[in-house]
Amino acid sequence: YFHKDPREAELPSDGMAGKFDRQQLQRGFQVYKEVCAACHSLKYVSFYQLADLGYSEAEVKAIANQWAIEVPSVNPDTGEAATRKALVSDRFPSPYANETAARAANNNAYPPDLSLITEARHDGANYVYSLLTGYVDQAGYKNSEGKELLKEFPDAATPPGLYFNPYFANLNIAMPAPIVSDGQVTYADGTKATKDQMAKDVAAFLVWTAEPTLENRHRTGWAVIIFLLIATVLAYLAYRNIWANAK
Ligand code: HEM
Repeated sequence: YFHKDPREAELPSDGMAGKFDRQQLQRGFQVYKEVCAACHSLKYVSFYQLADLGYSEAEVKAIANQWAIEVPSVNPDTGEAATRKALVSDRFPSPYANETAARAANNNAYPPDLSLITEARHDGANYVYSLLTGYVDQAGYKNSEGKELLKEFPDAATPPGLYFNPYFANLNIAMPAPIVSDGQVTYADGTKATKDQMAKDVAAFLVWTAEPTLENRHRTGWAVIIFLLIATVLAYLAYRNIWANAK
């Protein structure tokens, strides 16, 4: 088959002892803000949660203010929906007024909300990383067995308005490659913004949006394992003690 399994992004949050790298989450947020937010919302993430990435209260406020929230009334001068500046209590809104508008702008495809995407897709973080770095030329594309896609399935040719990406389930995705050149984002922390780095960082950020309490879960897991080990030793000693005099 021609679909590819994700490559490893090797994020610091992986594994039982995984932790977030706050600097990386801030970089990933920068990529979301400057690239992905043009099409994707984060409807389960509130601006105030950004404090968890290490931003100060004033910085969080300033970030929130860069977004506009539609209010249920119409601007009497322009006839357009009226907006107000987002507050820290708001969630990251969609850039589109509604699904119809979103589809109209995206060749009839709907850019999904990204809050939970790393949970909604199999091997989510690696998938997002691979998808973003996985756009290739369809002409001459071969799978690992050396079979050429367009020779085997000429009808699979990417239609206009779609883009070939072997990590996407049906190979042709309506999202144009969002990360196209090194230095597309200028990182506040000075990290070199290669395409690979940006894809990794935004994948790391989307792990955080889906599960901001991941570190707590990992810590709890360790505490539970240690507790159970101690409880096992105690139970064994109690057993020895209770039966000590039995012949
Ligand atoms: C779909 C991530 C930027 C438009 C998706 C999907 C992900 C994603 C994970 C879901 C694919 C799936 O269903 O498995 C991102 C990230 C971005 C980004 C991380 C920033 C780095 C953009 C931009 C646009 C866009 C800028 C608009 C120009 C879309 C559309 C879909 C989509 C239309 C639906 C594709 C389809 O169902 O064929 N994106 N995206 N995305 N994205 Fe993006």
